[in-house]
Amino acid sequence: MKLQNDLIVRAARGEETERVPVWVMRQAGRILSEYRATRAQAGSFKNLLKNPALAAEVTIQPVDILGVDAAILFSDILVIPEAIGLPYKMDEGKGPSFDKVIENESDVDALSTENVLTELSYVFETIQIIKKNLAGRVPLIGFAGAPWTIFCYMVEGRGSKTFSKSRAMLMQNPVLAHRLLSKITDATIIYLKKQIELGCDLVQLFDSWAGILNKETYNTFALPYINQICESISTVPVTVFAKGAFFSLEEMGKLPCATLGIDWHTEPSMARALAPGKTLQGNLDPAVLYGSDELIRRETIKMLEKFGPQRYIANLGHGVYPDVDHKKLKLFIQTIQAHQF
Ligand code: CP3
Repeated sequence: MKLQNDLIVRAARGEETERVPVWVMRQAGRILSEYRATRAQAGSFKNLLKNPALAAEVTIQPVDILGVDAAILFSDILVIPEAIGLPYKMDEGKGPSFDKVIENESDVDALSTENVLTELSYVFETIQIIKKNLAGRVPLIGFAGAPWTIFCYMVEGRGSKTFSKSRAMLMQNPVLAHRLLSKITDATIIYLKKQIELGCDLVQLFDSWAGILNKETYNTFALPYINQICESISTVPVTVFAKGAFFSLEEMGKLPCATLGIDWHTEPSMARALAPGKTLQGNLDPAVLYGSDELIRRETIKMLEKFGPQRYIANLGHGVYPDVDHKKLKLFIQTIQAHQF
């Protein structure tokens, strides 16, 4: 089906756009009371994820309520560990955790990419409902975690400030680390290809924990796998969002992807210089949305002027914080959509 608003796809492809398009990481989430109501109806986060009708509903809510230029599939990056044999729990207020973690060769051997498509059939059903109900209004963004970030959760077993267990494995057993990263990569490729086959108009890789590595370790343990995923996808634009990885921008500029997401620590001018030829996405500090309306307008326009009108998709520099007033987020979005350069 032809898209009525394809601004984000065109910006990703480097084609000219009449105005800067915008979507927001974590736009489908607790910031919206409508999300909280649907989640309550489902009973838990995982029930919501595994209920295609309700997951499709919360995917479309931000398009209707906030007026964003794209929908992002409502799912989680941790569905991949679960699909290859490591189930996760999502505890209210505590974030994700795993009962079992990856420690040795036999743990990696026990993971299997064979059932990825059947294990994740609920996601694929969700995509089909979303595509039908969106009816081409805006593009649908599919996504997955980047292998390094998924590795972090599978080895650590939970969120962490340092992910020291995960980084320890890189030092103590790099061969095992590469085997695990490779398996995650294989599963991710199968998963993303299916998302695209069912109609996702572009896909994003979230490397949320990129910033705990340095240039050398990131280029060794993260980028080759991201590269492999980008190479396997040729039909839709890929966005790579490696939070905190300003040190590898030059290498990321050479990835076979369309767009690089940047966080608020990275100056747009630096990203433009180091990654010429890429569309950029980002990068307002999500904390700006706690400010006055006047401050939000001023900072948003400052951001727009730094990136310029083309090869640009506006977003925050990371997910919106759930306690932000959704009216403030709407102001951010409307300021972008109304801006004339
Ligand atoms: O709107 C969207 O962005 C789409 C849906 C989406 C979710 N998670 C839903 C979600 C996306 C793209 C993600 C990606 C994700 N999940 C990442 C990468 C992006 C990032 O934030 O760095 C990561 C690291 C995860 C893992 C994860 N899931 C954590 C650490 C948490 C707990 C933190 C929290 O906010 O509670 C989740 C839970 C989660 N995933 C929620 C949502 C809406 C909150 C769950 C709830 O409803 O209580």
